[in-house]
Amino acid sequence: MAVERILSGMRPTGLLHLGHYHGVLKNWIKLQHEQECLFFVADWHALTTHYDTPQVIEDNVWEMVVDWLAAGVDPANATIFIQSRVPEHAELFTLLSMITPLGWLERVPTYKDQQEKLAHKDLSTYGFLGYPLLQSADILIYKATQVPVGEDQIPHIEFTREIARRFNHIYGREPGFEEKAHAAIKKLGGKKGALYDELRNRYQESGDDEALESARALVEEQQGLSLGDSERLLGYLEGGGKMILVEPEYKLTPASKMFGLDGQKMSKSYNNTISLRESPDLVAKKIKTMPTDPARIRRTDAGDPAKCPVWQLHEVYSDDSTKTWVQNGCRSAGIGCIECKQPVIQGVLAELKPIQERAAEYSEDPTLVKNVVAEGCERARKLAKETMREVREAMGLNYN
Ligand code: TRP
Ligand code: SF4
Repeated sequence: MAVERILSGMRPTGLLHLGHYHGVLKNWIKLQHEQECLFFVADWHALTTHYDTPQVIEDNVWEMVVDWLAAGVDPANATIFIQSRVPEHAELFTLLSMITPLGWLERVPTYKDQQEKLAHKDLSTYGFLGYPLLQSADILIYKATQVPVGEDQIPHIEFTREIARRFNHIYGREPGFEEKAHAAIKKLGGKKGALYDELRNRYQESGDDEALESARALVEEQQGLSLGDSERLLGYLEGGGKMILVEPEYKLTPASKMFGLDGQKMSKSYNNTISLRESPDLVAKKIKTMPTDPARIRRTDAGDPAKCPVWQLHEVYSDDSTKTWVQNGCRSAGIGCIECKQPVIQGVLAELKPIQERAAEYSEDPTLVKNVVAEGCERARKLAKETMREVREAMGLNYN
């Protein structure tokens, strides 16, 4: 059993740009070689805010997958799928909604924040309120242990943890739990059983988190344990019931260094992006027209890179010697801004070239992408179905 399972999703609401590449995709590409990874297109989440412009979503679903593949997300190392093609997400969402207090949803900070930010849209819908719960279903249905996200998503992961805990608390209770847990400890064998007991005591008596982690690893690595016993042993460490759903942790994406053309964070809403599909001509044009240190009115005026958005791109794309050349040349008016921008243009073009070549291959042969997604959906669905079988049983829905 893999100890970590990583899951993350992205909403298909626009073309991906360098901010996504540096902020999210490079991280995914690294993670796919380290752990089991699932990455999905969150098309239902996109509908919560774009319900009146479904064309936007339709246009972007496949293009987004093409961008992932072109950037280097590798279907041999990661499962790539579309949320709506795994309808079990919706079933879990419905079942979890039965135990979700309305107040929990209303208190998630993104709810009010986004309503204010997107004030031109009517977001007083049931779907939008339920956004974090749908996200919880996405995560819990795969028993994901780690969710790589940006800072803004942390409240959604914490919300998910609370839902998992509540679910386990309500439905993890079974008649004779304690006896069954003890029987399961016996099945670990004498030595491991004693170690389990010792670690459990250490955690329960002094809150020793390391002991909890070690005990969990012991259970997860144990061969030949039934799913029920494994859940009993995991649940017994902390409380009085089976651990059916797994509380995920967030894995904060390393802060992106990617600034936009105007010095603000690169973002579609600031209109300061370079998309992954931008033509070389447009890349050059966009960089050539970037604002620079306002002190450099004439070529002979000295400037300060710290006050210039172009410098922020040098930080990403230039080596040390180029950076020294910029620092000295700018401060002494030894170089002009047009000259200074050249290495940045070259750097961006060099980065985009292989991405665009791969994107072209995928765009020319759409069945390639469709096959990747079909396979990913099938794999994801198998996992989702397993969890749903357990969830239905725990909630008393297995009428046979
Ligand atoms: N809410 C996420 C975002 O806007 C997208 C998302 C949906 C997601 N479901 C998820 C991310 C599950 C991680 C895990 O970025
Ligand atoms: Fe910016 Fe370079 Fe011009 Fe200095 S020389 S202001 S760093 S573009």
